[in-house]
Amino acid sequence: MATPSAAPAFRRSRLVRLLSWPLYLALAAVGLVADPAAGTASASPGPAAAPGTGAVDCDSVPCVALTFDDGPGPYTGELLDLLAAEEVTATFFVVGRSAEESPATVARAAAEGHEVGNHSWAHDDLTEKTGPEVARDLERASLAITGATGRWPDLMRPPYGAVSETSLAHTYYPAILWDVDSRDWTGLDSEAIVESTMEQVRPGSIVLLHDSLAPTVEAAPELIDRLRGQGYHFVGVSEILDNTDLENGTAYRRRP
Ligand code: NI
Repeated sequence: MATPSAAPAFRRSRLVRLLSWPLYLALAAVGLVADPAAGTASASPGPAAAPGTGAVDCDSVPCVALTFDDGPGPYTGELLDLLAAEEVTATFFVVGRSAEESPATVARAAAEGHEVGNHSWAHDDLTEKTGPEVARDLERASLAITGATGRWPDLMRPPYGAVSETSLAHTYYPAILWDVDSRDWTGLDSEAIVESTMEQVRPGSIVLLHDSLAPTVEAAPELIDRLRGQGYHFVGVSEILDNTDLENGTAYRRRP
């Protein structure tokens, strides 16, 4: 799913990181972000487990990445309880504004081994912004996420899955889309969410779900049961994409 814009986007990304360095150091000095050189999240609320370091070999066993968007919200805690009880690893693409309002929930997700990605500051359609506005929006969200987890997010998901050449060129993260749309956002009930997902899933899938929706959280126990019954292992997005060097500004939909 590489795009021609990947290579220049990557070069620009390094430039932006250099430009952002004084801000980063300033935040590190006041303990808002972890010092990457230290290797520990000294000021984080809990030890953020490095995602994608599990022992599952997705070439040998069927893997699936469940992704939950638009939180944190009122149902996120219940979902985290379930994932902990079932020992399921997932990925949360959180809205920066909500992460700033509910940092403890985001911190918990990270501390319990889930991946936490950037889903923009306020869930705007990034294709309606200028390139610099896209970059500023995502940076603002990442600052809120880092304030909660102590870890700068590695991944982003564009709201609505909407991307353009301009938005991707100013997205200094891999852009994670999906190959399985549960269609939970269309108002399906929990049973229909399970059926819709099971009809589409295959080894290596990235599944779009929303922890902001009550029927989705209600569907999660049965969905996990059914997938496990088919032999699936639950991994984060980084792991299903094989922890390869993902390119900034490039969209990914499933395991290659
Ligand atoms: Ni969304």
